[in-house]
Amino acid sequence: MRSTEAPRIAVLGSLNMDLVVRVPHAPAAGETLQGHSIHSIPGGKGGNQAVSCARQGAQVSLLGCVGADAHGEALRQALQQDGIDTTAVQIDPAAPTGTALVMVEDSGQNRIVVIAGANARVEIDDAALAARLDRAAFLVAQFESPLVQVARAMNAAVRAGCKVLLNPSPVQAVDAALWPLIDTLVVNEVEARTLAGQPAEEPRDAAAAGAVLRARGVARVVVTLGAGGAVAIDADGARHHPAPRVQAVDTTAAGDTFLGALAVTLACGGSLDEAVRLGIRAAALCITQPGAQPSIPLRDAVLRSPLPPDWTPL
Ligand code: RIB
Repeated sequence: MRSTEAPRIAVLGSLNMDLVVRVPHAPAAGETLQGHSIHSIPGGKGGNQAVSCARQGAQVSLLGCVGADAHGEALRQALQQDGIDTTAVQIDPAAPTGTALVMVEDSGQNRIVVIAGANARVEIDDAALAARLDRAAFLVAQFESPLVQVARAMNAAVRAGCKVLLNPSPVQAVDAALWPLIDTLVVNEVEARTLAGQPAEEPRDAAAAGAVLRARGVARVVVTLGAGGAVAIDADGARHHPAPRVQAVDTTAAGDTFLGALAVTLACGGSLDEAVRLGIRAAALCITQPGAQPSIPLRDAVLRSPLPPDWTPL
């Protein structure tokens, strides 16, 4: 990284209390099975990405919405413990805090159902947004917030000279007018396939799908491939970054952890390849621990972790 000053990052996104059930395997239709455990753990893509940015050393502010309930209070407190500015997190008494039902198999793979609750009621306050975009290197957003609010924030960010890092997850169609506003697009293989309309599971396919998305006006695209690493696509071409082999305990928030490390590296002037490599190291640590936010590593731990194998041009 080039700069030593903590970069500012504004995150617009969801806050969920994850109800995490550990099971030997996901039950088939009609099957009843004994689970191992159930826990309530802070999550939500917006909250997780904010935590990842903060644990990588950024000054983070979060725009979102929770209900006036115990889950909302617990989520806000957890974020504050990471030094995240939550003064733009709205409290809506008319809706419950967002909830995610997370089923984690012994293999570490998960299945998630999200009930948006208060996340669906977030309303951008223009003055609050402008204050958080001031001197911010990035606006980070996902699609667990209403698309009209995401679009509004993206337009405001570009007007303020702040770059947009979009993670369109859960995947939905992206309005044609939004593509040129995106500096960095981070998608997994499923999202890349859906948005580009072509396969993206293998590195060469991911590079081709990423090129299709770049042609819509995005400066840089990263396609994450889980255990297969990630593919970085920019004006210099496409590179495949392999991931280290790791015994997965729980893959929840691996993508969010990756994104935070990527965002902070880019915000500090690092190259896309440096950012992807740090993101891969952070995600590799994340999946060795259970839960969403508790599993997101601190910067020191990421820097002490083994270097991933070298990237190869595609
Ligand atoms: O990306 C992982 C997150 O997705 C979980 O924490 C869950 O809340 C859902 O939003």
